[in-house]
Amino acid sequence: MVDSEVTLNNIEVTILKNLDITTPVGFDELIKSTSLGLDQIRRGVEWLKYKELIVVDDKTEFFYELDSNGIYSLYNGLPERRLINSILDGKKNISEVLSDKKIGPSEINIAIAKAKLNGWIKLETNGQFEIIHHNKSIQSDEEILINKINKYKIPKNELSNLDLITLKKLLKRPKFIKEVEEKIFFYTISEKGLDLLKENEDIPKESKLTVELLSTGNWKNVSFSKLDVQAPVPISYPGKKHPLTDLIDEIRHAFISLGFTEIEGDLVQSSFWNFDALFTPQDHAAREMQDTFYIQNLVETENPDSTLIQNVSQSHKLGWNYEWKIEDSRRSVLRTHTTPVTLKYLSDVKPDEAKIFTIGRVFRNEKVSYKHLVEFNQIEGIVTGKDVTLRDLMGIQKEFYSKLGIKKIMFWPTFFPYTEPSLQTMIYNDNLEKWVELFGMGIFRPEVTKPLNIPNPVLAWGGGIERIAMLRYGLNDVRDLYTNDMNWLRNLTKCL
Ligand code: PHE
Repeated sequence: MVDSEVTLNNIEVTILKNLDITTPVGFDELIKSTSLGLDQIRRGVEWLKYKELIVVDDKTEFFYELDSNGIYSLYNGLPERRLINSILDGKKNISEVLSDKKIGPSEINIAIAKAKLNGWIKLETNGQFEIIHHNKSIQSDEEILINKINKYKIPKNELSNLDLITLKKLLKRPKFIKEVEEKIFFYTISEKGLDLLKENEDIPKESKLTVELLSTGNWKNVSFSKLDVQAPVPISYPGKKHPLTDLIDEIRHAFISLGFTEIEGDLVQSSFWNFDALFTPQDHAAREMQDTFYIQNLVETENPDSTLIQNVSQSHKLGWNYEWKIEDSRRSVLRTHTTPVTLKYLSDVKPDEAKIFTIGRVFRNEKVSYKHLVEFNQIEGIVTGKDVTLRDLMGIQKEFYSKLGIKKIMFWPTFFPYTEPSLQTMIYNDNLEKWVELFGMGIFRPEVTKPLNIPNPVLAWGGGIERIAMLRYGLNDVRDLYTNDMNWLRNLTKCL
């Protein structure tokens, strides 16, 4: 009885038709008799084997092919041939032959031995070669066999008894002949395959719906071969977005779904916006060259207006009690965080209320390690309004993290020059089994908001996206996100 679920496609039918129930047919024979392509047969027999419609046998066969010295000799002659040619050219002894450079020092002994064995030459006691008998047009057995094997591998069973004797001699020479072992596959059709083929042959089948079938209406009269939608297929790896880009998109959606609006800012900022307006004193450790990339010869990206400069300078003088220098504030930096972007927005727009976020690259002059990169991505959010409080800030964090599937979080007091109070979120990394720091946050100090005339309190937070990516993808080394390991990228599940 034939399993009615099993269907055959055209390739399978063609292969089955060319198989016998008793005599095994080889792969190469199938190519000839079916006129199918190599890959079609490969796939076809895999499907048929899987459905148990054919029986596959294999046998190991030996082949011989030329190795490097064999190939060289094919084109330039065996060493003994090159020797005799050199003698015929007038070279009389070993040193003359060697100076001819057609034979290497490592070949000279074998060349002499073989030429003597072939009865071509004699070596006199005075070291001179003498030709005994030689006919240029007669090849030695070894030369004949090398030509026979030529560039292709030859199966052992195509070699005559004489060939096999000669082969032994050639195999003794280093790197002349390679013995290759190969598995040859043979196929016979199974009982089940035979039944299904018979059943299948009764009805003529069309494999494709053509324009002609459609326009003539003939599609109504023909029957189509069934498609086996569960047939195994080769795995394909379609192009997809990088996991980090996916995460950035997801974060963007999380913000938007919470009612935030995205803004963008420049990668190059003046120290004024990156540090000074954020009440970071000019001798602060973060402003040192070891931590920050300064851009040479690019003094100003944007001139803040003089009242702004006046106010910020005043704020530093009062708050930190030192002489604030305008030159330092003019130096351009690759932004070390995204906070200048939101701060500048607040200073330009001075909104009474706003929910804003930004995402982008930041740069820090740090030693690269499993947890540090010199270039990474940050997100930054702010909420401003008349009555916003620290509780709101913590609530927003909770909501935001839970949208990304992070539930285990806690808040920890910390310090930033521009916020008071300042907090840090810690989230639990199940992989590392420990709490890790995530975002920094706080309420902008009056020393920051007053000089810029920002009307209401501002809740602000920011932090690295790669950290979240490590959690999400179970990585212990942040560099793994940038090494383009194809295996990892291909096999990473798109939807978690
Ligand atoms: N800018 C801080 C950082 O890069 C994070 C932060 C943003 C802290 C806003 C407080 C307020 O780590």
